[in-house]
Amino acid sequence: MLAYLLAALAGVVLVLTVGTIIFAVLMMRGWMKALRRAVEEVRRGAQGVHLQLGGSSIDREIHKLLRSAEQVTFTSQIEWTPKSLQEVLQSVLPEAEVLVLSNREPYIHNTSEAGIVVQRPASGLVSALEPIMRACGGTWIAHGSGSADRETVDDNDRIGVPESTPAYTLRRIWISEEEQDGYYYGFANEGLWPLCHIVFVRPTFRSSDWQMYRQINQRFADAVVAEARTEDPVVLVQDYHFALAPRMIRERLPKATIITFWHIPWPNAETFSICPWKAEIIEGMLGSTIVGFHTQFHCNNFIEGVDRFVESRIDREVQAVSLGGHETGVRAYPISIEWPPREVEKLPAPAECRSGIISQFELTKGTRLIVGVERFDYTKGILDRMRALDALLLRNPAWRDRVAFIQVAAPTRSKLSSYSKLRAEAEALAAEINERHHGRQPVMHLITRHYEPSDVFRLFRGADACVVSSLHDGMNLVAKEFVSSREDNAGVLILSSFTGASRELSEALIVNPYDSEEMASAMELALTMPIEEQAERMKLMRQQVKEHNVYRWAGAMLVDAARSRTRERVLGLASKARHGVKPI
Ligand code: G6P
Repeated sequence: MLAYLLAALAGVVLVLTVGTIIFAVLMMRGWMKALRRAVEEVRRGAQGVHLQLGGSSIDREIHKLLRSAEQVTFTSQIEWTPKSLQEVLQSVLPEAEVLVLSNREPYIHNTSEAGIVVQRPASGLVSALEPIMRACGGTWIAHGSGSADRETVDDNDRIGVPESTPAYTLRRIWISEEEQDGYYYGFANEGLWPLCHIVFVRPTFRSSDWQMYRQINQRFADAVVAEARTEDPVVLVQDYHFALAPRMIRERLPKATIITFWHIPWPNAETFSICPWKAEIIEGMLGSTIVGFHTQFHCNNFIEGVDRFVESRIDREVQAVSLGGHETGVRAYPISIEWPPREVEKLPAPAECRSGIISQFELTKGTRLIVGVERFDYTKGILDRMRALDALLLRNPAWRDRVAFIQVAAPTRSKLSSYSKLRAEAEALAAEINERHHGRQPVMHLITRHYEPSDVFRLFRGADACVVSSLHDGMNLVAKEFVSSREDNAGVLILSSFTGASRELSEALIVNPYDSEEMASAMELALTMPIEEQAERMKLMRQQVKEHNVYRWAGAMLVDAARSRTRERVLGLASKARHGVKPI
C-alpha cells in the first residue's frame, strides 16, 4: 500500500515538475514575444511607419539585450542554494549593487553589565533577508536601535556583519525618540499594522505621525542615494515602514531597479479606504519596479486599491500598473527560510533537546510538549491558543499531568497600549489556566522574553506539536522553521488558515484560530497522532520548504527585476533609434 502511494506520489511530482518547466518555457516565450512586440511598437512610432531592425549600432545593442534576456534562468528549474542565487545574480544582473532598506536591523548592539552584547531580533523579515545578504553581499540600511549601536559603527555609521566573518555592510540610520514615536509606533504600528492585518484592533491615524513617517522615509531614501555607487543599483525596499521611499528613490535614481516587498497582508479596497493618505501610500509604492506580496490574493487587493484610489492604467493581463509613464509590476513571491537552516546543524538530536526542555521546565519524564514561539503581538492569536488548551483540559482532564504548553512570547512594541494590554491579559489567563487545571505540575508556561534563534530551534526540536494560530499573517516563518528543524520527521504543526504559510503547508493540521473547540481537537489529534502519520505529513512539508526556500524567493524577484531592467533598456534604445539619437 505504502509502495503504491509512494509511486503515485512520485508520478504526481514528475507530472508537476514537467508541467512547471513547460509552463516556465511558455511564460518565457510569451514574455520575449511581448517584449519584441513592444520594441516594434516604439520603433513604429506615432506615424505607424514600420521599421525593421537593421544594422545600426543601436539595433545591434537591442539584439544583444534581447539575446541576453533569452538566457534569463527559469527559476523553477534551479535547486536554490546561496551559491546558485549568487550565480543567478551574476548572470542576470551582472555587477549589480544590492541595497536593502528596512526598519529593523539584523544585528543590534546593546550595552549590558557584561559589556556590549549583540542581539538578533525576532523578525520574520530579518530571518528571511539575512541569508540573502550573506549570499550576495551589499549594503543593508536600517534603523540603529540598540543602546550600543553608535559605539560600534565607523565614522560613516557603517559596520561589517556578521562581525566574525563580515559578508555585507550594515549602515545605520539614527532616529530621535520623537521621530520614532510618530513614524514607527504611530503611523507604522498604530496605523498601517492594524489596517493591514484586520484583527479587529482599530487603526489610529494622526497627521503628526504621518508627517514623521514622510520625514523618515525621506531620510532612508536619501541614505540609499548616498550609499549607491552606481546610477542603477538594485534596491530591495522592505515592508510597511517604507511605502513612500520607492518614489522618493526613483526621483533621484531614475534608473534604479526598485523591488518593494510588503511583508504583511494587504487589505481589500473597502478596508484600505479608511486610511486618510491611501492615494499617497499607493503612489509612493508605485515608484517601484516591482511590488511584491506573499500571496496572489494580496496582489489582487492591491490592484483593486490602485483602481479605486489612483488615476493610473492597469494591465491586468500582465499585472502591471502605469503611473506617470512609469510601469510597476505586481507579483506574488511567497517568502521562506534558508535551507538547510544554519541553527539546526549546531543542535543536538531531537531526543536530547526534549530531555533538556523537560529538565529546564522541571516537568515529569514523558510529558508531551506543545510549543509556540512569537513576538507578543495581538495578530498571533496567543490568547486564542491558550483558550484552546483550556478547552482541551476541560474536555479531557486526563491530559492535565501529561501535557505542557510552552509559549515563548518576545516583548515587542510594548510602548503601545494594545501590546501591553495583551501581555497583561495573557499573563492573567496563564495563571487562571494553571489554577483551574492544577495537578502535579503547571500546564501553561508563558515565557515573556526574547529567545535567541538557537534556543528557539532547540524548543522546536524537542516538541510534539507546534501551534501557529495567527489571526492573520502575511506568511509566518515560525511554521516553516518548525518544519525545518525536524529532520527526524516527527512533530505535528497546527497552523492557522489565516496565514500565507497554510497555502503551502497543507499537511499541517489547519485550524480556524477563532474556534477554540476546533483548535482543542487539533491539539488532541496532534498529541495522539501515530508516528507514521506524523512522518508522512512532515516529509511532504519539509520537501515543500526545501524546494521553496528563501533563495528561491529572492531569485524569483531578482530574475523578474532583471527582465524589467532589460525591458526598460531595450525600449529606451528603441525609442532613441526612432528619434535618430546615437546611443551613448
Ligand atoms: C513583522 C514585520 C517586520 C518587523 C517584525 C518585527 O515581521 O513585517 O517588518 O520587523 O514584524 O517587528 P518589529 O516592530 O520589532 O520590527
